[in-house]
Amino acid sequence: MDKIIIVAIDGPAGAGKSTIARSVAERLGFLYIDTGAMYRAIALWALRTETALDDMHRLEALAISAELELIGPGRIRLNGEDVSDAIRDRAVSEAASKVATVAGVRRALVEKQQKFGETTSVVMEGRDIGTVVFPEAQVKIYLDASPRIRADRRAVELSSRGQVVSADELVGEIEDRDRRDRARAHSPLRQAEDAVYLDTSALSPVEVEDEILRVVRARTSNGKSLTRQHVE
Ligand code: DC
Repeated sequence: MDKIIIVAIDGPAGAGKSTIARSVAERLGFLYIDTGAMYRAIALWALRTETALDDMHRLEALAISAELELIGPGRIRLNGEDVSDAIRDRAVSEAASKVATVAGVRRALVEKQQKFGETTSVVMEGRDIGTVVFPEAQVKIYLDASPRIRADRRAVELSSRGQVVSADELVGEIEDRDRRDRARAHSPLRQAEDAVYLDTSALSPVEVEDEILRVVRARTSNGKSLTRQHVE
């Protein structure tokens, strides 16, 4: 059996993590895991049940009891229901960033995330994958881009879902979320010391993917731990 390889991709919202992580996973034949979707699913459940977003105990209980199933790239089921589209709502983005500050929620979700990497090679994206979830990951990438570029990308993504919001309006929201993600006491967003930093502002997705695959090859030494199909 191949050695299990963990590719950890962290960075702020809109740095291009999802598109790139999904595609890198496909090219490597690894499982793609979007951990933000897990925080979003808990936030959605909290909003639906009118759970106060500062009720730490209740939020932790939701995270522990949530049945989260990854049902394909970027798609997730919460307690049997496909919530992949519902979790992309702006209100859920806001709530997810609050829910993600709760230590008990993080503990419960990190445990679920670590289980995914026990049995198969994964490309996992989030904010704390290289620092907390898999500090021993062979490959760590920190993706970044300027707030303006991230807001433009988010506006395009929202408009493809029928939500028209100007990028100007989104810059403020993105900066607020960044502040919250970076300043929180538990597992704040930060670059792991051994992560490769990539600014995607002026790069195409394919250029970023190629660079990540180059790092994967280099970090998994002479390619021995990857199958031929994995390294092409
Ligand atoms: O990547 P995203 O925008 O879908 O993430 C939603 C929220 O969850 C965001 O505010 C950051 C938070 N998050 C986190 O704290 N840790 C992760 N590993 C993934 C996401």
